[in-house]
Amino acid sequence: MTFLFNSDARRGAIFADAFARELPDVPFTMDAATVAPDAVRYLISWTVPDNLARYGKLEILFSIGAGVDQFRLDAVPANVKIVRMIEEGIVRMMQEYVTLAVLALHRNLPGYLAQQRAGEWADIAQLQAGSRRIGVLGLGQLGQAVLDRLKPFGFPLAGWSRSPRRIEGVTCHHGELGLNEMLAASDIVICLLPLTEETRGFLDAELFAKLPKGAALVHAGRGPQLDHEALVAALDSGHLSAAMIDVTDPEPLPAGHPLWSHPKVILTPHVASVTQPASAAQAVVENIRRYRAGLDPIGLVDRSRGY
Ligand code: NAP
Ligand code: GLV
Repeated sequence: MTFLFNSDARRGAIFADAFARELPDVPFTMDAATVAPDAVRYLISWTVPDNLARYGKLEILFSIGAGVDQFRLDAVPANVKIVRMIEEGIVRMMQEYVTLAVLALHRNLPGYLAQQRAGEWADIAQLQAGSRRIGVLGLGQLGQAVLDRLKPFGFPLAGWSRSPRRIEGVTCHHGELGLNEMLAASDIVICLLPLTEETRGFLDAELFAKLPKGAALVHAGRGPQLDHEALVAALDSGHLSAAMIDVTDPEPLPAGHPLWSHPKVILTPHVASVTQPASAAQAVVENIRRYRAGLDPIGLVDRSRGY
């Protein structure tokens, strides 16, 4: 019942320590060549290895990240459970990133940076937090965590998900009608949706048109959810005031792409949140314990929904 770690050696060494300490009866390896394929019951990876079929007795495929869109779900045999990463490091880093982005946009940082480059010293009209409405697309582990972290600032908070949710201090919306209601009342909209067939291309011209004039976008979901040309057009027309973008398609963008140098855009290289190996190893250990006790692992992917 070997655990095969198919990722970088630095994080692998931390996982190896955790397994030796916490699950000594589960052999751990980072070297696929040293293990009989039929011995591999657990595999952690960022993408589905091309040779997955050789692991005929695989029981759980863990994603080393929170998202699983990089797995081709239909390439994974139906009997293999797919589990995404739920660990405190990812959550904490996303809370930091979105707070950074919301405050930067709320306090007109892209505008002040442009003014600095132009040698201008001038006020930009400032809304108070109580008048800056925040809307979060996706109310899963990350959407809920960032809303929680934003509460003390006093922004009116809203969120949108597929199924109805109740979150204290947050106006929750769901479904098509709920989406339109939330967008019309969001001065800063934050995308934390998983990439599925339903959310591919979701941040498009039609969606931007439903936002109030002057709204801003934070995108920390996945690049293919964003219509990059529509974003540039909405910024250039002045309908959107600014954007902070962590994910693009492709990554990195080609040299010369307008988002590299757009004065209203802050671009980061898919670093909003990164799996932290010590807490991730602990989360995987706990999930194997749960699985062996007959419980569903935390973060079990529903293949029919794609997340
Ligand atoms: P999660 O817990 O699975 O939550 C997903 C949320 O999105 C749920 O609220 C879900 O609705 C909602 N949703 C999914 N499809 C929808 C649809 N078609 N319409 C409406 N709502 C929909 O996911 P998570 O752990 O919060 O992570 C979200 C995503 O963040 C990941 O998939 C990944 O792509 C991205 N991410 C990015 C970074 C980065 O560094 N940029 C790091 C980590 C993760 P229900 O509540 O109704 O199910
Ligand atoms: C990073 O993007 C992740 O999915 O964890």
